[in-house]
Amino acid sequence: MLLILAVIISYLIGSVSFSMIIGKKLRQVDIRQHGSGNAGATNTLRVLGKGPAAAVLLLDCFKGVAAVWIGLQLTGGDPAGAGAAGLAAIAGHNWPVYYGFRGGKGVATTIGVLASMVFVQALIAGAAAIIAIILTRYVSLGSLLFVSGTTVITLFMKDDNTYLIFLLVITALSFWRHRTNIARLTSGKESKLGEKTGTAG
Ligand code: G3P
Repeated sequence: MLLILAVIISYLIGSVSFSMIIGKKLRQVDIRQHGSGNAGATNTLRVLGKGPAAAVLLLDCFKGVAAVWIGLQLTGGDPAGAGAAGLAAIAGHNWPVYYGFRGGKGVATTIGVLASMVFVQALIAGAAAIIAIILTRYVSLGSLLFVSGTTVITLFMKDDNTYLIFLLVITALSFWRHRTNIARLTSGKESKLGEKTGTAG
């Protein structure tokens, strides 16, 4: 029962889209109608600039941290509670109940969830992702490297099998949400960091 409560609360927290809130407050725009159309930090950078993007990244990330914390608190420290709550927050970000179920790709919230569950693995994969973004200027590539890298490192560390199940689901979900980015990456049409126009999808 408390696990279900944690999942519901986390989904509702995840549904709070800070790119939507900041976009509407700052410019009276729906971020989903500009740039790539994605309600996330990368598109906020394109449309609104560095300050708002940093705020969105931090606040969306915090949703993931909060969800894992709530999951642990309500289930007495059960890793399955943390994983289910984290996954629910990412789902809320991607399909937000407050915004017609049209949200983002879950990357910032995923950072918060993975860093809370498997900090060392997320740190290593995060460093690799940052290097990849600096070298290629593809944020989507770095995002996918971060999520899959965290999962692969956890797999090899044989750290916690409960977390691993959730990491695999979160990785699959992330690849699914980035499917149009992946198609553009393979055809060389993906927008690079710093480009003002994003390709929708
Ligand atoms: O944070 C999502 C990122 O990986 C890609 O975003 O706007 O370029 O599709 P976008």
